Amino acid sequence: MPWWYDVVEARHELQNPTSPEKIRLLGERLGLGPSSHVLDIGSGKGGPAVLLAREIGCRITSVERSPEFAAVARERVREAGVEVEVVESDAKDFRIEPVYDAALCLGASFAFDGLVPTVEALANAVPSRGFVAVGEPYWRTWPLPADFEVEEGEDFLTLPQTVERFESAGVQVVTLIASSHDDWDRYESLHWLALEEWLAANPDDPQAEEFRERGCHHRDRYLRWIRDLMGWAIFICRT
Ligand SMILES: C[S@@+](CC[C@H](N)C(=O)[O-])C[C@H]1O[C@@H](n2cnc3c(N)ncnc32)[C@H](O)[C@@H]1O
Repeated sequence: MPWWYDVVEARHELQNPTSPEKIRLLGERLGLGPSSHVLDIGSGKGGPAVLLAREIGCRITSVERSPEFAAVARERVREAGVEVEVVESDAKDFRIEPVYDAALCLGASFAFDGLVPTVEALANAVPSRGFVAVGEPYWRTWPLPADFEVEEGEDFLTLPQTVERFESAGVQVVTLIASSHDDWDRYESLHWLALEEWLAANPDDPQAEEFRERGCHHRDRYLRWIRDLMGWAIFICRT
């Protein structure tokens, strides 16, 4: 059976509303160099890891639960000839040793059941005053419009409240790389394009109608609400 994310993220290099330039900037802000070893949890198809390893020459340990995404990541690593180890595992089952120079979780804090446990888990990976970077949504507007329906998992806060939530985990947010509308439009509208292509190629798939409806719902919600209401940023913290 086709997996929704495998279908709609078929064209994504980076599976978040960000850009290659911003991932490079992340590497700079983290002070990464060729001798750095980075942990990347919820690494998806390896987009950020391969980019950082290729451009900086650092070593990365990636942890990804989905076998489909882990397989794509391994292929990208092989093609790029970079030092990225892809571990196929649930984040919670991966034993985090304190051996890394920086730890990332870009758009996967749900893997640890929330932001605070994510920051606490990543902090165990790095030395004192080490860097932890987490990509997380926040609400640009508060209160949310009365007719906007919050969906499951969207227990986000405003930007200042999100920083407070980070800092309640015992770290200091020292810098921020926020997404633009361009970043959001690339991330969201590549879903539309990939889905349209998949539906054209698989019109008789038993899931075609369900996927078409799901795609319409997401596109409509993005255009009506999410584009204006939701922000996303990589929050870079010192432990
Ligand atoms: C929004 S994607 C981000 C991927 C990647 N960090 C990027 O920026 O391109 C979130 C990823 O987290 C993975 N994920 C979800 N739950 C997980 C878990 N419990 N353990 C490990 N990975 C998980 C998903 O399969 C997906 O690849």
